[in-house]
Amino acid sequence: MAYAVQTEKLTKTFGDIVAVDGLDLRVDRGEIYGFLGPNGAGKTTTIRMLCGILEPTAGRGRVLGYDVVGQAEEIKKRIGYMSQKFSLYEDLTVAENVDFYASIYGLTGSLKDERAEEIYRTAGLAGRTGQLAGTLSGGQKQRLALGCALVHRPELLFLDEPTAGVDPASRRDFWGLLYELAAAGTTILVTTHYMDEAEHCNRLGFIYGGKLIAEGRPDALKAAAAAEVYKITPASVGDAYAALLRGLPGATVSILGNNVHVSGPGVDEAALARVLADAGVAYAVLERAAPNLEDLFVMFIGKEGRS
Ligand SMILES: Nc1ncnc2c1ncn2[C@@H]1O[C@H](COP(=O)(O)OP(=O)(O)OP(=O)(O)O)[C@@H](O)[C@H]1O
Ligand SMILES: [Mg+2]
Repeated sequence: MAYAVQTEKLTKTFGDIVAVDGLDLRVDRGEIYGFLGPNGAGKTTTIRMLCGILEPTAGRGRVLGYDVVGQAEEIKKRIGYMSQKFSLYEDLTVAENVDFYASIYGLTGSLKDERAEEIYRTAGLAGRTGQLAGTLSGGQKQRLALGCALVHRPELLFLDEPTAGVDPASRRDFWGLLYELAAAGTTILVTTHYMDEAEHCNRLGFIYGGKLIAEGRPDALKAAAAAEVYKITPASVGDAYAALLRGLPGATVSILGNNVHVSGPGVDEAALARVLADAGVAYAVLERAAPNLEDLFVMFIGKEGRS
């Protein structure tokens, strides 16, 4: 059984909306796979199908060797799922939440107590077991939710934006826990909108419009983008954007805050300077930029559009 996750033309439609569109995904055992894409790309829908809680419209998927349609119960026993929106009961205490998840997986007696203690310890919540989950800080909630998703020692963990809204230090701690799990053999599929987190994955897949449009190791993807992305800080972002779109047909131009990012064939420092000078657009900075997630999205989406 080679892959932890393997799909063939996995598809989900909601009425006219094609949320997941013929997705072929392969995740190796023991790897941390970053599943990236803009809002509405189909990440959550894919994960819900892989967890066996949403039936595909077409195509097939196997998780840990089990079919997502016919063997959903086998899958649910062996995976952990931290959903994007809801995973803790805010009006239950820390201990009651752990108890609830433990009972779902049939843990009882001393085994249940041991696992609970372990969760409190790794989540830094020993001494807070009587506190209502709703009153925990964002970072504490994430760590408790992770602990609950792990209570039955799953082989495969689906994490849907597990660190959204959590501060950088807490995110680092959280990723420390993920590394330990991966080192112990747990396969992890994680979605994130943070570049620093994406860089911690073994492999990244970009999904857009329900399709996988790029895949590879983070350093390889970044190197491909770094060769092309330029960052300009102009006096007027709007003027620079318009001038670059007109002056460099075929380039990918996007506005990110006070900057304009440009990439694509024929784009270099000289060409950019010439186009901006011709259009009379003043700028403070023009430099090759370290690509961020938006740059990668924009670049891959641009390539998808051209092909
Ligand atoms: N139950 C549903 N009924 C109708 N449309 C749905 C349903 N669930 C998802 N969709 C649509 O499917 C598409 C993909 O949604 P999905 O939640 O999978 O995206 P996502 O990649 O997880 O986005 P985000 O980054 O915002 O979480 C969206 O257009 C969404 O509106
Ligand atoms: Mg989502």
